Amino acid sequence: MKFFIDTANLEQIKEAQDLGVLDGVTTNPSLMAKEGITGAENILQHYKAICEAVEGDVSAEVIATDYEGMIQQGEELAALNPQIVVKLPMIAAGIKACKYFSDKGIKTNVTLVFSVGQAILAAKAGATYVSPFLGRLDDISTDGLNLIKEIRLVYDNYDFKTQILSASVRNTMHVVNCAKIGSDVMTGPLSSITGLLKHPLTDSGLAQFLKDYAKGN
Ligand code: G3P
Repeated sequence: MKFFIDTANLEQIKEAQDLGVLDGVTTNPSLMAKEGITGAENILQHYKAICEAVEGDVSAEVIATDYEGMIQQGEELAALNPQIVVKLPMIAAGIKACKYFSDKGIKTNVTLVFSVGQAILAAKAGATYVSPFLGRLDDISTDGLNLIKEIRLVYDNYDFKTQILSASVRNTMHVVNCAKIGSDVMTGPLSSITGLLKHPLTDSGLAQFLKDYAKGN
């Protein structure tokens, strides 16, 4: 399973990259705003900086909600760096734009997906990635992981090539469960990645090894 980090924070992106397990980055307008990155030009420059900090795919989201606007913004984003994946919302214009970019060989990520039907549409439009938001479904007492499972089943039935990018991952158990289900990618905060390192038996075991080693020296 690929690990993407879901942030626009360059320090956190670099920390995950330094760990050697990062496959890409996802962002959205809210994550940009959280880092104080506002205004079209600053946002474009920030995407460039993110691409320089990592080796993998970097999802950059269009703001337009009409087809022509999405095409214009998506082309501008894609021209920044070959790592850019054009992120499009799961609305009719987004699906149409997804087909346009797929036909041109530009990578796409259809976002804000909350149902299997939406995931089927994204796959039929040739999306590189589909982003079901599992944490936000959990927030409203709906089983987010079950949506990932069902999309996996349908995509496997028809050998759809669209990769399931489990998004709105919030914690380490989301990561582990996505891996059990066969999600192709997960995107979450840095803590959902570094949290996987932790186990008290690892800590106590290492402390004992070092103590025993010190006895002979
Ligand atoms: O990847 C989607 C993500 O940015 C949304 O996450 O935690 O705001 O639901 P969250």
